[in-house]
Amino acid sequence: MLYLGVDLGTSSIKLVVMDEKGTIKGTAGAEYGLSFPHPGWSEQNPLDWVSGMEEALKKLSEKINLKDVAGISFGGQMHGLVILDENDNVIRPAILWNDGRTTKECEYLNKTIGQDKISAYTGNMALTGFTAPKILWVKENEPENFKKIKKIMLPKDYLAYVLSGVFCTDVSDASGMLLLDVKNRKWSPEMLEICGITEDMLAKVFESYEVVGTIKADIAEKYGFNKDVKIIAGAGDNAAGAIGTGTTLDGMCIVSLGTSGTVFISCDDYAVDENNALHMFGHATGKYHLMGCMLSAASSNKWWMDEIIGTKDYAEEQKAIKSLGDNHVYYLPYLMGERTPHNNPNARGSFIGMTMDTTRADMTLAVLEGVTFALRDSLEIARSLGVKIDTIRATGGGAKSPLWRQLLANIMNVNVEIMNSEEGPGYGGAILAAVGCGEYKDVATAAGEIVKVKETLAPEKELVEKYEKRYNVWKQLYPALKTVFDDVAK
Ligand code: XUL
Repeated sequence: MLYLGVDLGTSSIKLVVMDEKGTIKGTAGAEYGLSFPHPGWSEQNPLDWVSGMEEALKKLSEKINLKDVAGISFGGQMHGLVILDENDNVIRPAILWNDGRTTKECEYLNKTIGQDKISAYTGNMALTGFTAPKILWVKENEPENFKKIKKIMLPKDYLAYVLSGVFCTDVSDASGMLLLDVKNRKWSPEMLEICGITEDMLAKVFESYEVVGTIKADIAEKYGFNKDVKIIAGAGDNAAGAIGTGTTLDGMCIVSLGTSGTVFISCDDYAVDENNALHMFGHATGKYHLMGCMLSAASSNKWWMDEIIGTKDYAEEQKAIKSLGDNHVYYLPYLMGERTPHNNPNARGSFIGMTMDTTRADMTLAVLEGVTFALRDSLEIARSLGVKIDTIRATGGGAKSPLWRQLLANIMNVNVEIMNSEEGPGYGGAILAAVGCGEYKDVATAAGEIVKVKETLAPEKELVEKYEKRYNVWKQLYPALKTVFDDVAK
C-alpha cells in the first residue's frame, strides 16, 4: 500500500508518496505566489493551493499509480485564516502565519483582556501571526466579510475539505489558532466569545493520526484515486516535520530552516512558562511540544539570493565562502518583523559592519549566520527553561546546505543529525496516513521504525568559541536598533 503526504508550504506544495515501510516512491511539487499587499502583510489565495495540488498530483501520477494510495494526510503552513461563506466560497485571501497586521488586536488580547487570562484559556499569548487576532482584525476592518463567515479553517484543512468534504482540523495545527484550549485539546469557549464567533464556525478537532473521512467520489475520479482512500487529519507543518524526522519523544529537538525557522521540542507534559516565551502546542503524537518561531529563515537567504544578488545557484554562491567564524558583517533577519523572541512586527532586516573590503561572500555568510543566531535565541530560551539540548535534528530546505548545517552545529554548540529523508512535513504527513490506516500502532512507533539518522555532525571547538563571541555581539544589535525600527515602520 502507498501513503501520500501533502506538505502545503508557503512558497510551494510538495507531495511525498511512501510505501508501508517508509520507502519513498515518488515526489512532486508545484509553486505558487505570495502577496504582500502592505509592508508586513502576507496573503495567499486558497484556490492557488488547490491548483498547486492538482498540478503536483498530475506530475505524481506520471511516476506512480495513484490507485495504490490507501491514505492521504497533511503537513500545512500554520495559523493562516481561511474563511468560507454559506456556499463554501472563499471570502477573502488567506491571511498567513507571517502577516503582522494585528498589532492592535494582540494588544487588546494581551493587555485589555490580559495575557494571563489568554494564556490560561489557550496555553499561549496573542501573537500577530496567530489566527484569533486575525479574526478580530476582519471583524473590525472588514465587517461585511465578517458577517459572511460560516466556516473558519486553517490552510491544510481547506485541502482536506476539498478532498473529503469533512470540516476537520487537528490538535497540533488548531493549537496555533489561539482558539484551542491546548491542555484539554478542545475549543476554548472563552476565546470563541472574545472573538465573537460560535463553535459551529470551527471544525471538528481530531488527533493528527485519526481518519476524518474518505475521499469524495468525484475527486477520486478526477485525480485517479480509488474511491475508498482514507483522509487522515494531519498536522501543522512543524509537528508533521517533527514526525518526518522522528522527533516524537520527550526532550527531542528539531530545528527547521524553512521559509520560517523553528526550534521544536517534543514533550510529554503540558507546561507553560510564565512569559509565554515559547509556544505550547499539541504534538501530532497525541502529546505536546514547545516551539520558538522566527519568520524569515531560509526566506532571508532566498530574498538575498533571488532578489538582491540575482542568482538561483545558492550552492555556487556558498562555495565562495572560504572561512568561518571571522566575518565582520552581521545580519538581522527581521524581513517580516519577528515573532520569537521579540514579538515585534516593526523589526526590520538589517546589515551592519560592512567596510570597503567587504565581499559578496561575506554578506551571503552574514545572512546564513544571522538566521542561525536568531534560531539560537529560541534555543537559549528553551535552555533557560531547563530543557537540555545537546543534539538537534535539522530539516527544511536550508538544512540541505552542508555549510548551513555546519553553522547550526557551531553556532548552537550541538550535534546536528541529518535524517534518511529530507522531505520533513510531507514525509510526516505520509507517516500519519500510514498510522491512520492501521499500518502502525501509534505515531512514535511508526516514526521510530521508519526514520533513521543518516549522518551526525559534531560542533568544532574552535568555531564554537569564535561564534560564541559573535553571537554576543549580534545579540546587542536588536536592542540597540529597536527604537529605530519603530521610527522606520511609522
Ligand atoms: C509556526 C509558524 C511557521 C509556519 C510556516 O508557528 O508560524 O513555522 O507554520 O509554515
